Amino acid sequence: MFVKIKGTGSCLPEKVLDNAAISQLVDTNDEWIQSRTGIKSRHIVGKETAVSMAAVAAEKALEDAGITAEEIDLLIVSSVSSEQLLPCTACSVQKELGAVNAAAFDLNAACSGFIVAYQMAAGQIKAGLSKKALLIGVECLSNIVNWKDRGTCILFGDGAGAAVISAEEEGNIEIPSVLHSDGSRGEVLTCKNPTGERKDRSLEGYVAMDGREIYKFAVRQVPAVIDEILEKAEKSVEEIDLFVLHQANRRIVEAIAKRLKQPIEKFPMDMMQNGNMSSASIPVLLDELKQEGKLQPGMKIIVAGFGAGLTWGGMYLEW
Ligand code: ACO
Repeated sequence: MFVKIKGTGSCLPEKVLDNAAISQLVDTNDEWIQSRTGIKSRHIVGKETAVSMAAVAAEKALEDAGITAEEIDLLIVSSVSSEQLLPCTACSVQKELGAVNAAAFDLNAACSGFIVAYQMAAGQIKAGLSKKALLIGVECLSNIVNWKDRGTCILFGDGAGAAVISAEEEGNIEIPSVLHSDGSRGEVLTCKNPTGERKDRSLEGYVAMDGREIYKFAVRQVPAVIDEILEKAEKSVEEIDLFVLHQANRRIVEAIAKRLKQPIEKFPMDMMQNGNMSSASIPVLLDELKQEGKLQPGMKIIVAGFGAGLTWGGMYLEW
């Protein structure tokens, strides 16, 4: 018996920025962006905020799960780009939803954030400390991207995804999952606090990235972590119906599929229209797949993410 995702929801900003619009801001073009990343367009916040998008995604997930906000006893928001540090985004979302019985907090594990939130909540459920948890990945990355840096501003998008999880029934709960971190390699993807002590603030507050190192990290570590999850779940790679991966870019997903010797059709992607939404990318993709009827009961799914920290991990789900 497993911890189950009972409902999903998502919210994307109204405004769409396509590659042609980005090429008005920096020296780039649609062909370069699409061939390197697969990305055609992304959503960017206008009047939306992290809290407003998270609340809409959460309301949809609650409705999908058929439960009320009052039933939620744990509310975790993963974000690296919310407009607010205090109060935490999770507490503001709690207020919006009226989730009065929830303990609420934020976590930062960058693009692995939804994976980490799931595993922390699943552990609480397994320990008997939570019954129904609401997990949200929300990002306003357009707030922390340097719109003069063509190496990074083409990659990211804004949005929110949410999932409600609970134990399927009473009894022993299995959570075949893996998490890793390597702080010694943290410098390959950073965003410094602009209120820090550094005198030269030219790069502070913006995402800075060594793209090639991130690429190498992802295509090595994600297949390895998937092997670890398969072993824990006692499944073969062929038994897995879908691999729902962090949507950083198409070339990374294709390289992972190749290393696993699995058909690319098992690797759904939405970065074409959403860009890289960091911790929102996996829950948004899950919600899109669900709405499209591509997640059927009993399907075997591996979800895996990787990101700044460095952090990476994943879990096996039965839908
Ligand atoms: N448009 C046109 N030219 C560009 C652009 C652009 N947007 N960006 C960079 N270039 C140029 C560079 O200036 C460079 O020119 P030069 O040879 O004259 O110096 C050339 O293109 C090659 O630049 P690289 O940075 O080496 O480009 P690369 O082929 O490595 O592609 C990319 C960059 C797409 C970022 C790649 O490294 C990659 O896929 N990395 C993975 C990183 C990633 O996806 N990060 C997402 C965030 S992290 C996460 O989600 C965990």
